[in-house]
Amino acid sequence: MVRIGATLGAVGVLGALAACVPEQTPTSSAGPTPTVSPTPAPEGALPRVLLAVFSRAGENYWNGGRRVLEVGNTDVVAGMIRDSLEVEHYRIEAADPYPFEYEPTVQRNWSEVQAGARPSLAAAPPGLNGIDTVLLGSPVWASQTPMIMRTFVEAVGGFAGLTVHPFVTYAVSGFGSVPDDYAALCPDATFGEGLTVRGENATGAAPEVRGWLARIGLI
Ligand SMILES: Cc1cc2nc3c(=O)[nH]c(=O)nc-3n(C[C@H](O)[C@H](O)[C@H](O)COP(=O)(O)O)c2cc1C
Repeated sequence: MVRIGATLGAVGVLGALAACVPEQTPTSSAGPTPTVSPTPAPEGALPRVLLAVFSRAGENYWNGGRRVLEVGNTDVVAGMIRDSLEVEHYRIEAADPYPFEYEPTVQRNWSEVQAGARPSLAAAPPGLNGIDTVLLGSPVWASQTPMIMRTFVEAVGGFAGLTVHPFVTYAVSGFGSVPDDYAALCPDATFGEGLTVRGENATGAAPEVRGWLARIGLI
């Protein structure tokens, strides 16, 4: 464990500390919560799927070192999902983009975690009319969901009445506290099986992704 902490540098330390960070008052807002409630798709119709993904290209952790990713790992997995089924795709992006470099991103994330921040979204959240299933993807940051995911989930009203399947890419933590984070943020959503993919294995994960989509009944 010590070795992992040392290898991941600040991330491992952040991960250990993050578990102790309580929910705090938002420091910024994503704008008004949408007023339209989701309407389920008609019976017998194929489930309408929202694929909502946050992913950061640029310098990242990679097998104990660093690598510049042209496409973020979670985005690679999102591409495999899009290759397999029809979805509505929404990219979760921060109005103030995260740095290209890894260490400054770790520092910024840790500041956001400590502040209980809700970084503003770059674009209005999507409408949920007709959507009944949500595939919600992100990297694991400091062993939990990035704070921008909290902004997003709150902005869409916690996916009340919908089925949510979380998926993550990670370096060492697996899911970390991500399922618990979402469960706390979405008391009125139903959670189905999620998927974890190690970031370094993302480009080879197509069979795993398709297996998951089959198990959750989307293909
Ligand atoms: C700010 C930051 C914090 C991270 N913290 C963790 C962590 O606590 N546990 C872990 O396994 N990986 C951690 N990672 C690694 C990422 O989860 C992993 O590289 C992921 O695949 C990146 O996905 P992306 O390219 O879609 O952003 C962290 C990376 C960053 C940039």
